[in-house]
Amino acid sequence: MGGGSNLLINDGTIETPVLHTALMNAINVVVESGKILLECGAGTNLKQIFRLALDEAWSGLEFLAGIPGTVGGALMGNAGTKHGTIAESVVAVRTVEANGALLDWDANDIEWGYRTSPFPNLGGRVIVKAVFSLRQSEKEQVLERVKMAITERKSQPHGVKTAGCVFKNPQGDTAGRLLDRSGCKGLSVRGAVVSRKHANFFENAGGATADDMVELVRLCGKRVYDAFGVELKLEIKTMGFEEPFPLR
Ligand code: EPU
Repeated sequence: MGGGSNLLINDGTIETPVLHTALMNAINVVVESGKILLECGAGTNLKQIFRLALDEAWSGLEFLAGIPGTVGGALMGNAGTKHGTIAESVVAVRTVEANGALLDWDANDIEWGYRTSPFPNLGGRVIVKAVFSLRQSEKEQVLERVKMAITERKSQPHGVKTAGCVFKNPQGDTAGRLLDRSGCKGLSVRGAVVSRKHANFFENAGGATADDMVELVRLCGKRVYDAFGVELKLEIKTMGFEEPFPLR
C-alpha cells in the first residue's frame, strides 16, 4: 500500500498482511552527462518530487502535478493525465518478488498500459524504488507547466474525500461524460455521493463505508450500461475484496 489515494479498502478485517511503504521515501539525485536521475523509494510522496523538481527547475513530470500518491502507487497504476503518464520518465524499477529475490527492471522491458503496469502485487510483488530521468530546464517554464496541470484539474473535485477517478475511460469516450449523461451526478448511497463537479469522482460526504461505495459503483455502472451499452471498468484499486471485484 502506498498513499492509499486510488484505493478502496473493504470494511472489516483484512486477512492478508499489508505492507505500507511510507518510510521508504529517500530520494537520491545523480547528474549524469546532462541528465538528472532521481532514484526514489516506493513510498516517496509525489509532492516531494514535484517540489524538488520545481526548486531545481527539472522538467519531465510537471504534467502530473496535483496527482496525489506515492511513487509505488503511481507506477503500479501508471498514473497519468491526457498529456502522458509517469511511465514516460521511468528509467528503471526495482521490485521484491514473492520469493524475496530482488528484480531490476529496465524501462525497455516494462510493458505499460493505460493505467496498468506489470507490478500489481497480487502475486506478492512489491515495488521498492524507481529511477526517473528529468531534464534541466528554466524555473519559469517548469512553473508554467505545473500551473497548467493544476488549472486543468480545476474541473475535478478538490478538498473533498475521493479516491480519484473511479472508472477507466473506455475506448473512444470518457467515463465522466457517460456517467454524467446517464444522470449519475448527485446519486448517493448513504454517505457515498457522485460528485456534482465531475461524475467519475465519488465522494465520501461523511460516514460512507466501503459497502456504500461498492453499491454506488454498481448502481452507476448499471446506469451507464443501460443507457449506452458500455461496461465501465474500475480504475481504483481494491483491497480485501473478492478478486475479481464484482461489478454487478
Ligand atoms: N465530462 C462530463 N461530465 C463530467 C465529467 C466530464 O461531461 O461530469 C466530460 C468533459 O466535459 C470532457 C470529458 O468528459 O469533455 C473528459 O473529462 P476530463 O477532461 O475531466 O477528463 P477525464 O477523461 O474525465 C482524465 C483522467 C484523469 C485526469 C484527467 C486530466 C481517466 C479515467 N481520467 O479524466 O485522471 O486527471 O483526464 O488529464 O483516465 C485518474 O486517473 O484518477 C484521473 C483523475
